Amino acid sequence: MRSFAGRDILSLKGFERNEFERVFEVADELAPFARNRQNTDLLAEKILVTAFYQPSTRTRLAHEAAMLRLGGKVTGFADAKMTRAGDFYQESIKDTVHMLEYYGDVIVMRHFQQGAPHEAARWASIPVINAGDGWGEHPTQVLTDLYTILEEKGTLDGLDFLLVGDMRMRTMHSMLYALSQFDVKAYVVSPPEMALTEEFKKEITEMGTQFEVVNSVHDVIGDVDVIYMEPVVQPDYTKARQEATADKGLTPPEYKITKEILLKKARQDAIVLHSLPRQDELTVDVDDTRFARYWVEAFNGVVMRMALLALILGAME
Ligand code: CP
Repeated sequence: MRSFAGRDILSLKGFERNEFERVFEVADELAPFARNRQNTDLLAEKILVTAFYQPSTRTRLAHEAAMLRLGGKVTGFADAKMTRAGDFYQESIKDTVHMLEYYGDVIVMRHFQQGAPHEAARWASIPVINAGDGWGEHPTQVLTDLYTILEEKGTLDGLDFLLVGDMRMRTMHSMLYALSQFDVKAYVVSPPEMALTEEFKKEITEMGTQFEVVNSVHDVIGDVDVIYMEPVVQPDYTKARQEATADKGLTPPEYKITKEILLKKARQDAIVLHSLPRQDELTVDVDDTRFARYWVEAFNGVVMRMALLALILGAME
């Protein structure tokens, strides 16, 4: 297995099964700290730099919380408008990263341009973690999600997934890359204008991902173990920021999960994951049902970032 020490986490394409398994093992080892709200000094000498060019609640704060739990320190920006990258100068990623690498030991970057963290990694002498890039990928979120499913189900192999929402979403891309490493079938549901591209379908088919495109959650909801959701009422992820409008629309029933549908049609032991934030595609009445796992998923967001930071910064092998 390739060492994680000093490694960038940019994509789940090419992430090997034994690497997933090692990350999950380290997450298991570190989870008690987060669960017991305790800190350790594993990364006491290290600094995390957050470079967020797009809004975030979970990804930035989970990385920061993870670093603090491990005894490290945190600096960075949550709004590029307050940096030279977002003002008159429009400072390049190359120049910005040449600064950030002097300020810390690992950079976590979210950007509206697909490939921006990869560009940062070209120039940085320290590891770069992709915290979501445009419509590209969101590898740390999907590692969190797979870890949550493994914890809940005891296995990933043999499971059937329903992936519903906007298939341009970066989580969906990382998920479909990751599933190539497991014996899993994915049913994919999205509005036609948000469908997987032919190029992406060819790519994941060649990687061995087993998937089938279906029209509505109603067609397959009774056949799946995992319901994995994203909104279809979405901002444009290629923009730094998009304000809400009064007419942003509602989710059609084909792409929506409610308590009523789950109770009528889903398997008894099906679980619902959603990386959040949600719109109306996942109704709040699901929150108190046996199906909901998105709060566990949110907690595991800290655990997974602890595991990744410990591995990348060489505190765990
Ligand atoms: N799931 C996720 O990426 O959330 P944030 O946009 O709040 O980071």
